[in-house]
Amino acid sequence: MNFIPYGRQDIDQGDEQAVLETLRSSYLTQGPKVAEFEQALCNYTGARYCVAVASGTAALHLAVAALELPKGSEGITSPNTFTASANSMVYCGIKPVFADIDPVSYNISPEAIAAKLSDNTSLITAVHFAGQPADMPAIAKLARQHQLRVIEDAAHAIGSCYPDGSKVGNCCYSDLTIFSFHPVKTMTTGEGGAVMTNDPELYRTMLLLRSHGISKDPAQMSQNPGPWYYEMLALGWHYRLTDMQAALGISQLGKIDRFKVRRRAIVANYNAAFATNPLITTPHEVAGASSCFHLYVVQINFEKLGKSRADVMQQLSERGIGSQVHYIPVHTQPWYQQHATARPGDCPVAERYYQCCLSLPLYSAMSDEEQQRVIAALNEVLG
Ligand SMILES: Cc1ncc(COP(=O)(O)O)c(C=O)c1O
Repeated sequence: MNFIPYGRQDIDQGDEQAVLETLRSSYLTQGPKVAEFEQALCNYTGARYCVAVASGTAALHLAVAALELPKGSEGITSPNTFTASANSMVYCGIKPVFADIDPVSYNISPEAIAAKLSDNTSLITAVHFAGQPADMPAIAKLARQHQLRVIEDAAHAIGSCYPDGSKVGNCCYSDLTIFSFHPVKTMTTGEGGAVMTNDPELYRTMLLLRSHGISKDPAQMSQNPGPWYYEMLALGWHYRLTDMQAALGISQLGKIDRFKVRRRAIVANYNAAFATNPLITTPHEVAGASSCFHLYVVQINFEKLGKSRADVMQQLSERGIGSQVHYIPVHTQPWYQQHATARPGDCPVAERYYQCCLSLPLYSAMSDEEQQRVIAALNEVLG
């Protein structure tokens, strides 16, 4: 009996062939495949510029750094996210402030953002949790009114569409949007990420920062004594993606719409299977949106069940089923307790949600039989 993880990559022979061809080419590190991948991401999302990088975390770091926000200013983000959404602010001297989530979408609530605004707020990082778009029209309106910059953390949301029908990643509601291509995400490059933007200045800055802040462009250098010469114009990092990863990314991106159809079908099957179970709350799709679900998160009434979440996860695991918890509210993490002003109790909706949430297996390569095993196992464990 094979173990069914909560998420995993979907790799076929076309992907293998693409990587193999790159291995046999002249470029292993950043080369023509990276540029091709960036163009493919622009074509797919509709954004003008793309900078492919080594991870979603690197993408967030570059995005915040490129905005050059005042040190000590505040960035508002969701507590219901991976730590990287907030950490990227800290890397740049911005203080994360956590605004509570909406109890239905589990995304950051625009009303909660409005309540956390101060004269010192410079940034909102909205997270499209589980692949469902956050309320970007409302967030963009707040940002306009208060002259704030906006980043969309779309680590979960490549392939998703806003209620207006356009694709997440087109940056029509934000300055920058980031993706992650970790293997549990909807498409993968092994490790990897990308930042999308429509702003040519931000784009140029991120190109520099991706590679140590070094330029070989004669137009950017103060002198040009010879072909060996380069200048370090800013303090950047080594966040480059390799051509092998980009080749995999191009191949995976070509299948994203198929991945989306499959993921949505699995979500619909789960929703139907659990609809009448009084212990389970299934996810609600954001009205009008077409989400490319990265996670399938149910809320389980463990109190009524009379079993702890740890016991349920253990009993699922004994039946060969993986599950996971997304997310421990970031503001309750020990580091944030020590360094930020947030305290447990500050985001009660996210904290209540965390007590009940459980992510069940969802990946495009999951077969119907495997999904039936998950449904049967959960029904059995919940009695
Ligand atoms: C919401 C969110 N943002 C950012 C990241 C960071 O992405 P990566 O793991 O590629 O660095 C993740 C990764 O899980 C994530 O879930």
